Amino acid sequence: MDNMSDDRSKCTEAKREPFWVFGYGSLCWNPGFEYQQAITGYVKGFSRRFWQGNTTHRGTDTKPGRVATLIEDKEGVTWGKAFLISADNNAALPYLTTRECQLGGYRTYTVNFHPRPDLEYSSSSTSSSEKKDALLYIAVPENQHWLGSAPLPDIAKQILECKGSSGTNAEYLLRLADFMRDEIPEALDEHLFSLERLVKKFASDMRICLRTLMGEERQEEKSEAKAVVPSFQYASRVPEKKLRCVNM
Ligand code: SIN
Repeated sequence: MDNMSDDRSKCTEAKREPFWVFGYGSLCWNPGFEYQQAITGYVKGFSRRFWQGNTTHRGTDTKPGRVATLIEDKEGVTWGKAFLISADNNAALPYLTTRECQLGGYRTYTVNFHPRPDLEYSSSSTSSSEKKDALLYIAVPENQHWLGSAPLPDIAKQILECKGSSGTNAEYLLRLADFMRDEIPEALDEHLFSLERLVKKFASDMRICLRTLMGEERQEEKSEAKAVVPSFQYASRVPEKKLRCVNM
C-alpha cells in the first residue's frame, strides 16, 4: 500500500485548499460534482473488488447490489480517475460525504495517486505528472453493507438481478468496464473484466437486453422530456454512449 492514511475526520471537514479525489468505481464515469481538472492514473497497494453491498443506488435493503471497493494487496495496482476540486468549491465534499460515506458505507482515506505516465499537461495546468495526495473512499469489512468475497458467477448473478434508485447494478459494472477500456486501455483488471463477461453472458442466456440494463431506454424518455424542459442535472449525469442491444 502506497502511503495510505485513515482520514475519517476529513469526511465532514470543510476543505480550504484545492484537493484531489481518486475514483475507482462510479466516480470514474459519474462524478456528480464540479471539478477543475480530471486525470487518469493509479494507486498502488490495492485491488478492486465488487465486495461492497449497496442498498440505495444499485440495490435495496432486501436485494443489495454489489459495488466496487478496494482491498489491500501488496502487489496490486488500481487504475481510475482523479479529480481536482478547487478551494472555493463548497459543495463537492459534502456531496461526496453523503454519497460515499453516509449512503455507501465507505470511509475516507488519503493515498498517493500516480498520474498516468504518458499524460501531457498544458502549461496553464496546475498539475504535473508527479504523485499527489488524494482522498479516496474505501469500504472495510466492519461496515454494515459489507458482503465480501464470493465465487465470481455468484457475484455476476447478483449484479444482474439488482437495481436501486440510480439504476441497475449491471449498469454500474458495465459503465466502469467501458470507462476502463476507453480511457485506460492498458489497465489490467481480471476481476472487473471477468465480471463484465459473466454478466453479459448471463444477460444473453436470459434474453435480457443490454440497453435496458444500461438504462438507455429510461434516458431516452428523459431526453424527450429534456427537449421540453432543459435539465442540467440530467445532462451532467451520464455520458450518452454505447447503445447496445445483444442479439437475442
Ligand atoms: C469510487 O468510485 O471511487 C468509490 C466507489 C463508488 O462510489 O462506486
